[in-house]
Amino acid sequence: MAITDELAALQESTLADIAKAENTEALDQVRVAVLGKAGTLTAYLRSMGQVPPEERAVVGKTVNATRVVVEDALASRKKELEAAELDAAISAAAVDVTLPGRAQQMGTRHLINRITDEICEVFLGLGYTVAYGPEVETDYYNFEALNAAADHPSRSMQDTFYVHDLSGDASKVRGESDVLLRTQTSGVQVHVMEDQELPIYIVAPGKVYRRDVADPSHLPQFNQIEGLVVDKNITFGDLKGTLDYVCKKIFGEERKTRFRAHYFPFTEPSAEVDVSCGICHGEGCRFCKGTGWLELLGCGMVDPNVLRMSGIDPEEYSGFAFGLGVERAACLKYNVPDLRMLLEGDMRFLRQF
Ligand code: DAH
Repeated sequence: MAITDELAALQESTLADIAKAENTEALDQVRVAVLGKAGTLTAYLRSMGQVPPEERAVVGKTVNATRVVVEDALASRKKELEAAELDAAISAAAVDVTLPGRAQQMGTRHLINRITDEICEVFLGLGYTVAYGPEVETDYYNFEALNAAADHPSRSMQDTFYVHDLSGDASKVRGESDVLLRTQTSGVQVHVMEDQELPIYIVAPGKVYRRDVADPSHLPQFNQIEGLVVDKNITFGDLKGTLDYVCKKIFGEERKTRFRAHYFPFTEPSAEVDVSCGICHGEGCRFCKGTGWLELLGCGMVDPNVLRMSGIDPEEYSGFAFGLGVERAACLKYNVPDLRMLLEGDMRFLRQF
């Protein structure tokens, strides 16, 4: 075959290869195979010396023309492929602005904090202030100054978390420490009576701790709101009127209260207050165990001994006190059957309130 025919065939197959190249990488392989150092067309250019002189002009021209055609074809295919590759890269990186965004899961204030604030707000409206006391307490504030004798059952190791005495006093082994996690917010009463001027109108919210195993009606850590009023001429009527008003504000005007005689060491007389069941409204149902009433809080007239121990003259001043469980109040308000549900952190439950 004449060289010119060979070149024509080479040109044809190279153009076909160029057309078939699917990306710039494949195209470069074609270029190297034809025009590279060991390329097929390069070989013709190199071997011009062996071409007989009379053919040299024609063959030279043809080789050059072939090269120009191949180079042009490579250049235009390269442009095409680069444009396609750029398009593909752009659409791969594209943001679909019509996709709905991912909503941030916003938390909310926990039910326990909300109810605590709600109850405190009602008292603020009556002119009370909010007081706080320490969660790690001494035996004196948690028991003794509240008239709870040393043999009072609430002091027992079963109920109270004692804090290991760190003073190095060897006579105080674990369990006989004077330091404990408060079992009730009632100790704040004592701090307030010691620290504040009379008259006193305070509520004291906070955490308390007891050695209880969690069950539907017990938690080892829960929240209470304590209340204390000390003023001249305070009567049991003031206590009843105040708590009845507050219960209606918190649970709804249709709810009723009843006072049952009870015993607490720091009040005399003492009572427990029940609120009418929010499910059956007094008829009796499973939630109220058939009684129509739900136990809400403890209260009473401050025992004269307690006033005296904190330096207040019970001949001149009288007062009332109360303490309520916040988790219990939340459950009564929203008809939740199990205190533990409040602590599980299940958003499906908490979002309902
Ligand atoms: N501290 C009591 C308790 O934890 C509740 C209580 C009852 C508080 C009567 C009071 C009160 O202030 O007067 O069970």
